[in-house]
Amino acid sequence: MRLLGPAELDASSVVANNAMNRGRRLRGYSRELGLNLAVALSGKTWLDLCCGEGHALAEAALLGADVTGVDLVGHFAVPPAANLRLVVASIPGWHPSGKFDLITVVHGLHYLGDKLGVLAEIAGWLTERGKFAANFDVASVEAGSRRKLLAALRSRGFVYDSRNRRISRTGPAVVEFPYEYLGADDTAGPNYTGQPAVVSHYRA
Ligand SMILES: C[S@@+](CC[C@H](N)C(=O)[O-])C[C@H]1O[C@@H](n2cnc3c(N)ncnc32)[C@H](O)[C@@H]1O
Repeated sequence: MRLLGPAELDASSVVANNAMNRGRRLRGYSRELGLNLAVALSGKTWLDLCCGEGHALAEAALLGADVTGVDLVGHFAVPPAANLRLVVASIPGWHPSGKFDLITVVHGLHYLGDKLGVLAEIAGWLTERGKFAANFDVASVEAGSRRKLLAALRSRGFVYDSRNRRISRTGPAVVEFPYEYLGADDTAGPNYTGQPAVVSHYRA
């Protein structure tokens, strides 16, 4: 199997797939993450990675949150606002200048290469009581023993919900995983969402 590097992955038709849903609203975000985001956002800083068109962020900005969205593709479909920043950038590789009360990745980790590297970075971008929540399928990380991978996530403060395929954490940490990233496989086919996804390969 040929594993792709970051530039090849960004150009892959799996990542640039126009059939993926980029238009979720705040209610859709809340449903996908199992959180009521509308009540949690007023006066908070929110970073949304793989934000798609930015609708959920625009709603949150109206509710008084200070929001930043990042997406590889600049298909943003919302008007600018002083408390809404939308950035075109590839993750991993983008770094914020501040910390956030909430960090989310709604159906975006499925398309990233070094998923564990991104999770480790996110842990360092949270405020003291900051929350992280994302859709995540542990089957999209090929790192040898699944049991050891889950233990590595757990011991570093991540909570994996296997039934709903979500990952979360509360509070910051300096996180390092005992895995070396090898590259990404964009030929694995559809994941549980029904869309083709990217499997990230690691050496323990
Ligand atoms: C299924 S869409 C979800 C969009 C949005 N979160 C939503 O739920 O409406 C996945 C998004 O991930 C973005 N994406 C994929 N690879 C990325 C990367 N390397 N860096 C940043 N965004 C990426 C895609 O452009 C797409 O907008």
